[in-house]
Formats: sequence, structure tokens, C-alpha cells
Amino acid sequence: MKLTFHGHSAWEIETGGLRIWIDPFITGNPHADVTADQAQADYIIVSHAHRDHLGDTEAIAGRTGARVIAMNELAIHLAEKGLATDALQIGGAMSFPFGRVKLVPAHHSSSLDGTYMGSEAGILLRDQEGTVLYHAGDTGLFSDMQLIGRAGLDAALLPIGDKYTMGPDDAVTAVELLQPRVALPMHYNTFPFIAQDAAAWKSDVEERTDTKVLVLQPGESCVVVPGGLA
Ligand code: NI
Ligand code: MN
Repeated sequence: MKLTFHGHSAWEIETGGLRIWIDPFITGNPHADVTADQAQADYIIVSHAHRDHLGDTEAIAGRTGARVIAMNELAIHLAEKGLATDALQIGGAMSFPFGRVKLVPAHHSSSLDGTYMGSEAGILLRDQEGTVLYHAGDTGLFSDMQLIGRAGLDAALLPIGDKYTMGPDDAVTAVELLQPRVALPMHYNTFPFIAQDAAAWKSDVEERTDTKVLVLQPGESCVVVPGGLA
């Protein structure tokens, strides 16, 4: 599984010859390294409806024909816009040609222009090679992260920005609960009010846990396999 960071909480996954985007916030993302016109996708998974996560989903899916995987209410909204969607609910999983996706709890909110869009979600993805990825979405710290960790996480994408999600200290505790092989920080430095020191967070995590931290700059990639980084 090749993982590319596009800034904020936007990630591109390549596995089994397919491209899956998570939270494709490109337009308005000051750190995006691509434009929405350049993004290629077979599937888009959206954690929740906030603009900095739903992002360019409609434009990219409209142009590429990518199927959108999202919580029920958000999926219905996008289907009404003409997109191909698959609706899930928290705790429910579904198999796709690239692997299996389960939506898991996150503690946040999810609305679009004031309209309720179902609950927020985290994303668990197991690809056909058995690599397990967790994208936490926007969330505060919660102790059931240890249940999510029982999936055996090869990589965890965790917000550290504070203000709208857990901050660096709680994100270290999250790593303790999740016990992923590698943790990658996200949802920080996009805007001044979520500025954080990712290098300091890496030191804290690696001091307190056995998890390795990889800080990717927008446009950078890594390869994750069962057992951690390739
Ligand atoms: Ni949000
Ligand atoms: Mn957000």
C-alpha cells in the first residue's frame, strides 16, 4: 500500500492497481501539492461532511467516476448530486475490489452548511495484501481506540492540530491505545490556529511507545506493508 500525503487530512492510497483518496480537501488547502483537476481516483472515502474533509469530492468523483464511500446521510446527499456512492454506518464494513472498509467511531460532528450529515467517522481499511490502515478523521481522544487497535494497525493517521481535534498530548495517548506500527500526524499547520511541532510530537511518541512516527510533507509518500513500513 502506497500512501501519499496531500496536506491536512487528505491522503491518496494506491493498492492493487486502484487509487483511493481519503478526505480530498485540495481547493482551499494551502499545503495541497496537486489541484483538484489533477487528482485521479477510483474510490473516495469521506470521514465527515466538513469542508476541510469533503473538500473536492464532488468535483473529483464527477470527473473521474470514482465511487464515494461515506456515512449514510452524507452518501445520500452525494447520491442526490448524481455521484455513485456506498453508504455505511459506524461498525459496518463492506468489501471493495481494493479491500475492506469499516467505519469506526470518532468524536466530532458532521454537517454541511448547517444540515445534519450523519455522524462523523474514522476509517479502517484492510487492503488485499492484509495491510491495515486507520484514518482517525477528526476526533478527540477516546478510550475505545484500544478496540480499534485490536485490528492490528500497520499505520495510523492521527490528527494532532488541537482546537478542532485532539492535540499533540492526547494524540500521544491515542498512540498508546491504538499501538500502530507506524503513526503519521495530520490535521496540523494547515492554518495558523492548528500550528504544531510534528518533530516534537514524534519525539514524545517514540519516547513513550514502541510506535515509529513518520512525518510526511505534502507530496511525500511511503509504502506500508503488513508489519509496518516497507
Ligand atoms: Ni471536522
Ligand atoms: Mn477538520
